[in-house]
Amino acid sequence: MKALLLLGGFGTRLRPFTINTPKALLPIVNYPFIAYQFELLRKYEIKEVVLGVGYKGDEFKRVIDIGKNMGIKIYLSYEKKPLGTGGGIKNAEKFLKGKEPFFVFNGDVLADFNLEKILTFHIEKNAYITIGMIKVPDPSSYGLILTDDEMKIIKFIEKPKKEEIVTDTVNAGVYVFQPEVLEEIPENKEVSVEKETFPQILQKGKNMFGYIHYGYWLDVGTIDKFKKGNFDLIDGKIELLYKKSEENIEKKDNVLIGDNVIVEGKLIADENAIICENSKFKGKVIIGKKSFIGKNCLIENSIIFENVFIGDECIIENSIIGESVIIRNNCIVKNSAVGDNSFINQFSKFSE
Ligand code: GTP
Repeated sequence: MKALLLLGGFGTRLRPFTINTPKALLPIVNYPFIAYQFELLRKYEIKEVVLGVGYKGDEFKRVIDIGKNMGIKIYLSYEKKPLGTGGGIKNAEKFLKGKEPFFVFNGDVLADFNLEKILTFHIEKNAYITIGMIKVPDPSSYGLILTDDEMKIIKFIEKPKKEEIVTDTVNAGVYVFQPEVLEEIPENKEVSVEKETFPQILQKGKNMFGYIHYGYWLDVGTIDKFKKGNFDLIDGKIELLYKKSEENIEKKDNVLIGDNVIVEGKLIADENAIICENSKFKGKVIIGKKSFIGKNCLIENSIIFENVFIGDECIIENSIIGESVIIRNNCIVKNSAVGDNSFINQFSKFSE
């Protein structure tokens, strides 16, 4: 069976980090986010995966080997201009057409979907399209999906007004398509699968069903949710690729940790990271490859990407520090998102 990952978006809500790197390649607990999706697909023996890419599409070449090492063959489907989610699916047609149904995933959802159950449901219902759904406490900012007792979709309600909130089930960003669905989407045109294709197909009276996912689900598309995704994995709220451990300090090869470093919570340090003496870590802290933390620092609930230099006596709290950032001595950075390659001079103070 094949799967398509939709990865062509600009990821504007995750700027500044998506200025250099597409959203799905940003690190989540020191793995590119897409590796978690590969892991889910590997678990359900989906071995051919199409990446529908546009913005910074060439960057995805570097995950071909990650897929290969997980036993997954990767195909890249490039969009020369943004085609939207529907257009992105149509653009990948040559990789997907055939007799079998296939999966489509939004490329920014961290979830432990049971793909076997979703597929069995799809087949049993003789569905043309099955849409994975989740229940959310406040559905007002989502696209609602109304189903009948048999889970047949009756109505899509985009951006509902208060009186239109008649259900708490919303689109979870995973679909099973019969191959014929590809014929319903126009070529070379920007199309939203959620706002255009699905309602049009429903109007034609085709069998569309909703399958409710009750496990973990998070759209990592904003800075706060990106942070939450990292921290939820550490807490073991979702078990995928990263395995929760009880150790205070988890370090990969060649990590150097100086004397009197205190960890109150969890510190995860990737290869070749260096942490100097007397620094203190509170809550959850993730440090990327080759990053350096000076002496007497206090770092709390933060994510530090690769190749970062943090000088002595710095306080970093509730922040994400992008790749190759330099923060000189005695800086305070709180509640901030510091873009790749930034240079912060000594004694600077940042707080949102
Ligand atoms: P924001 O700009 O922050 O809204 O992020 P985004 O560009 O990723 O948009 P959104 O979160 O709505 O997209 C949901 C999913 O669809 C993401 O995985 C996107 O990468 C993907 N997506 C959005 N637009 C396109 C597109 O034109 N082509 C493809 N292939 N995927 C897209």
